[in-house]
Amino acid sequence: MTEHLTVVKHPLVQHKLTLMREKDTSTASFRRLLREISLLLAYEITREMELTSKWIETPLQEMKAPILEGKKLALVSILRAGNGLLDGILELIPAARVGFIGLYRDPETLKPVQYYCKVPAELEDRLVIVVDPMLATGNSSVAAIDLLKEKGAKNIRFLCLLAAPEGVARMKEAHPDVPVVTAALDERLNDHGYIVPGLGDAGDRMFGTK
Ligand code: URA
Repeated sequence: MTEHLTVVKHPLVQHKLTLMREKDTSTASFRRLLREISLLLAYEITREMELTSKWIETPLQEMKAPILEGKKLALVSILRAGNGLLDGILELIPAARVGFIGLYRDPETLKPVQYYCKVPAELEDRLVIVVDPMLATGNSSVAAIDLLKEKGAKNIRFLCLLAAPEGVARMKEAHPDVPVVTAALDERLNDHGYIVPGLGDAGDRMFGTK
């Protein structure tokens, strides 16, 4: 993946995102749409995975057929909202290894505070896809990727649903080697660090809290 930012313009992605943005969309619909959209975004972010080949036998003859190369990829969810993206991706890539990083955003400083980290072994040999629906200030995404790099990860991609220009710039500055894939690049952040026009608090909307 050569671009730092990829916006997935597929009509199904854009249509589902519009439904998710609407304030009256129910929790159940929001969650279902997120699962559907994450599957489509996962398709895009894995587009350039390395392939190798092996000999197989079809009912008709032998052939050399393509299969994924290397170790199983690692999905790393930034809690809690990242988990909403995880379900759909795991439907597409059920053999993926899964890690979790717990970071909450201090409401005053907007800085990330880590409270949990459990990630798969041998990160250095895996494609690592970090998932968080909202790339807002970029603080928690950058902190999560700092942590993964400390643990050896070298080939990292970041998957989100919505990105703010501020978050994209912060990621590009801190981790220029990490491509970002998103369904939309919105206008800006508001004074509370929310993406505008956005869709509100992704965690609250998917889990029905607040
Ligand atoms: N996190 C959210 O859930 N929504 C935003 O708009 C920004 C960060």
